[in-house]
Amino acid sequence: MEILQKVQEQILSYVKEIADDKSLELLGLLPNGKMLRSKLILKIAGANEESIKLCAVVEMIHAASLLHDDVIDDATTRRGKQTINALFDNKTSIMFGDILYSKAFTELTKMDKEVAYTISNAVTLLSVGELLDVELSKIFNTSYDKYLDMIYKKTASLIEASAKSAAILANKNRDNFALYGKNLGLAFQMVDDILDITEDSEKLGKPAMLDFVEGKVTIPYLFTYERSNEQDKTKLENFYKKELSNDETLWLKNQFSTTNAIQDSIALAQKFGSNAIEAIKDENNEDLVLIMKAMIERDF
Ligand code: FPP
Ligand code: MG
Repeated sequence: MEILQKVQEQILSYVKEIADDKSLELLGLLPNGKMLRSKLILKIAGANEESIKLCAVVEMIHAASLLHDDVIDDATTRRGKQTINALFDNKTSIMFGDILYSKAFTELTKMDKEVAYTISNAVTLLSVGELLDVELSKIFNTSYDKYLDMIYKKTASLIEASAKSAAILANKNRDNFALYGKNLGLAFQMVDDILDITEDSEKLGKPAMLDFVEGKVTIPYLFTYERSNEQDKTKLENFYKKELSNDETLWLKNQFSTTNAIQDSIALAQKFGSNAIEAIKDENNEDLVLIMKAMIERDF
């Protein structure tokens, strides 16, 4: 999308305004993402100066959150590129995250008050969600409700806020678009959690099957655990946070298969996807249906 280039240019011009060479260098080292949030904003609000600025602000916040997340997760690769914490150190990643985040907030203060409130409130949720993720990764979590609450806050909240803010700018029904964004965001994180298991590291641009090693009991693990007998439950508990041997990985994959955990996780993501489409059925926006479908069917 040609227009996404304009968003990139807006981000570059914001970072140039900071007048710091190191920040410009670091910006150039960030991997290009899918820009899902921008795609939604542009499809809802259309492409104009105001919506492009909102996209840039949201992408900067998202990038900041990933710079912090890569430190928290000790990640060395993202989207096939070395992370800033791997190329430099944790301090650089955290501080560049803070720079992007605060510049985004400066720009947000110049925008519509309700948009500014919606986006800034989502960042609080985002941070609470990341903290919940950290807490839930300490001991084997078997609660679906806790998982859902965490992924809503960690991932869906900013997508929900992006769609809602775009609707505010375009004078459209903000509740419908917010609900679309929320459900799309939940489905998005579930697909992410499924791909961690089903795809190889080359496709993912980061190590595969890392979630469970990191202590994250994602939706496929929740399903497989819930449906396992006592003996297999114990085995799963023993595999938790462990680097697995090839045989152990094979056993785990077989366990996913016999418990239908992957298929049912996909079905659940699809259900949230359908909820997203249902929320905007009166809005006449076929492109948003296509974005949702492409998001579910993606393989990285
Ligand atoms: C990736 O999750 C992380 C997020 C979606 C949110 C991270 C949020 C914060 C660090 C708090 C907000 C901070 C600022 C500065 C705005 P993941 O680890 O499950 O996914 P991954 O595999 O892509 O790393
Ligand atoms: Mg991470």
